[in-house]
Amino acid sequence: MKVGVLGAGTMGAGIAQVAAQSGHATVLVDVNPEQLAKAKAGIEKVLARLVEKGNKTREEADTILSRLTFAGAIDQFAGCGMIIEAIVEKLEVKHTVFRQMEAVVEKDCILASNTSSLSIASIGSVLEQPSRIVGIHFFNPAPLMPLVEIIPAVQTSEATLQQAKQLIDSWKKVTVICKDTPGFIVNRVARPFYGEALRIYEEGVADFATIDWAMTTIGGFRMGPFTLMDYIGNDINYTVTETVFQAFYYDPRFKPSFTQKRHMEAGFLGRKTNRGYYDYAEGSDLPKPTEDMALGKQIFERILVMLINEAFDALFLNVASREDIDLAMTNGVNYPKGLLQWADELGLPYVLEKLEALFAEYGEDRYRPNPLLRRMAKN
Ligand code: NAI
Repeated sequence: MKVGVLGAGTMGAGIAQVAAQSGHATVLVDVNPEQLAKAKAGIEKVLARLVEKGNKTREEADTILSRLTFAGAIDQFAGCGMIIEAIVEKLEVKHTVFRQMEAVVEKDCILASNTSSLSIASIGSVLEQPSRIVGIHFFNPAPLMPLVEIIPAVQTSEATLQQAKQLIDSWKKVTVICKDTPGFIVNRVARPFYGEALRIYEEGVADFATIDWAMTTIGGFRMGPFTLMDYIGNDINYTVTETVFQAFYYDPRFKPSFTQKRHMEAGFLGRKTNRGYYDYAEGSDLPKPTEDMALGKQIFERILVMLINEAFDALFLNVASREDIDLAMTNGVNYPKGLLQWADELGLPYVLEKLEALFAEYGEDRYRPNPLLRRMAKN
């Protein structure tokens, strides 16, 4: 099947590489010729490295490259069985390109969006045949991150959903199906990893380094929240938080943090500006954590129970199945364990007790234990 990818930026280039590696004739289209050239050079470089490391032969790399076509116009998508859109996150622009794409393809071509924050329903609303719309949400970098969230909109047909899932499964990705709700699974359930860490810092409980130490050393997470936010970029991470907060009608659970906003406003974006929560300039040392086990455990458990509460909320509201919620967090953001499994291991009454203590102490809605967690802890 011929696959189309629209937008040759960070995500589009990676998705096109995955499609070509999976054996598809792949057309990557972008309005900006410089972006196309950059994407082509980037993919060539990645494949050259794989050949160097012995993961691929030169012939295999050349075959993959020969499957890729780089083009400047949407009419090159003619004959595609599926197109994944990965352009700017603006609904009006997406509407224009989805209309254009539908005009050049056959009736059975699936039209997918890689959007992180727009609803799939709103993107599909302009199609003549809206049952072919579906969300296919990759994680950055697309060739390396196993998870792909598949999001049926209210318009999506069962056939579109199943075909999309089968295709992405055949690309050796871990697919999960989730409802067309803000943040899908990962960007919703992961919010407290950042938000609660920022809140703990703001209360003066501990500094960045100590919170990161607690989450990595005691919690077993690959990166602490502040190190991770510096990697992602405080501008990007803040925007996701704000978008999710607005999309949930200002539910206080998702309230963004002033600390992060000020870092963003100051241009302390993280690694990419050499300064975020930490100073990455040459010659500067990273601060040392306070390695106090009791404090570390308190920090880790506070963030963990908030994450678990969010995972329960997603399950309670049927955003995804129990298995998919756990798979999403381990494969999309590398959590050491699925949150629902983690909750079982800790014991649901223990998790509930921690949340109830936070709720009693603060009296804030942000800490309200999820009804499903309450119900299950009782049984
Ligand atoms: P990007 O800014 O790196 O790339 C966007 C590309 O789209 C650019 O090359 C631009 O020239 C092109 N473009 C813009 N308008 C176009 C048009 N009308 N026709 C053809 N090409 C056009 O953006 P990025 O980060 O790759 O994001 C793309 C999409 O993927 C967004 O919807 C975003 O929400 C989503 N996404 C981003 C992730 C990330 O970590 N960056 C993760 C998952 C999803």
